[in-house]
Amino acid sequence: MSFEHILLEKKAAVGIIRFNRPKSMNALCQPLFAELSEALDDLESDDAIAAIIITGNDKAFAAGADIGEMVEASYQQMLADEGLNRQWDRIANCRKPVIAAVAGYALGGGCELAMSCDFIIAADNAKFGQPEITIGTMPGIGGTQRLTRLVGKARAMDMCLTGRMMDAQEAERAGLVSRVVPLESYFEEAFEAASLIAGFSRPVVKLAKEAVNAALETTLTQGLKTERRLFHSTFAFDDQKEGMKAFIEKRKPVFKHR
Ligand code: CAA
Repeated sequence: MSFEHILLEKKAAVGIIRFNRPKSMNALCQPLFAELSEALDDLESDDAIAAIIITGNDKAFAAGADIGEMVEASYQQMLADEGLNRQWDRIANCRKPVIAAVAGYALGGGCELAMSCDFIIAADNAKFGQPEITIGTMPGIGGTQRLTRLVGKARAMDMCLTGRMMDAQEAERAGLVSRVVPLESYFEEAFEAASLIAGFSRPVVKLAKEAVNAALETTLTQGLKTERRLFHSTFAFDDQKEGMKAFIEKRKPVFKHR
């Protein structure tokens, strides 16, 4: 499988997708979105892969959708492009865990793709923003929705209406990112987290992800019901027996992913 705008690597049980348009700060052109979807299809259907990292380079995760490509697009074109609109949602629809490893700029569509991942590990030079307002448009891949759920209305309004960026430290305080680490180690930190997740029971990881996501989609009562059912269902797996027995026997569990 060869790509022009991304790099795809498989390292042990971790799939790594790296945006690879360094000259344009990893601007997200349409072919890049298509390649991202194709790579995720591949990683999702590969039984050897249990967790995924999406990353960029030290200067930019991605500085947004490709402005040069969009400048002359018509309303009809933007509305009609079903393929592209589906590709924008591809990360959010991935059933395997996806970590965003973000250094440098994560702006516009870049911030939105990072927020579509399950969590964000940020380098201390990361900057997050929804600057679309400064170029005469507004977020279109979840910036007004996911950001508001993650950081609350006040900060989301501030970012979407003024276009101001948040640095990594503010993003951590606000709940947008889970950890901030030195630039030199952000990828290793993400890789260690992905490898740790990959070592746990894969079906249980899937259910835990589904349960956390339910919190953003539903009422507390419904979310608690969903969680309870999913929790009960983990008792159908050999891995639950093995995990608990291993704890009692003071040894490491050997999960069989069933
Ligand atoms: N699209 C296309 N090209 C981009 C780009 C983008 N989003 N962001 C950066 N580039 C290009 C620049 O045009 C420049 O190319 P040249 O060298 O050929 O001139 C190159 O990347 C380097 O950028 P700068 O010279 O601007 O670098 P800088 O360090 O001075 O600034 C920056 C970096 C703050 C990220 C600045 O480039 C910037 O503001 N980029 C645009 C950010 C933006 O508005 N993003 C939102 C896009 S719209 C969107 O994403 C909509 C949506 O929700 C779907």
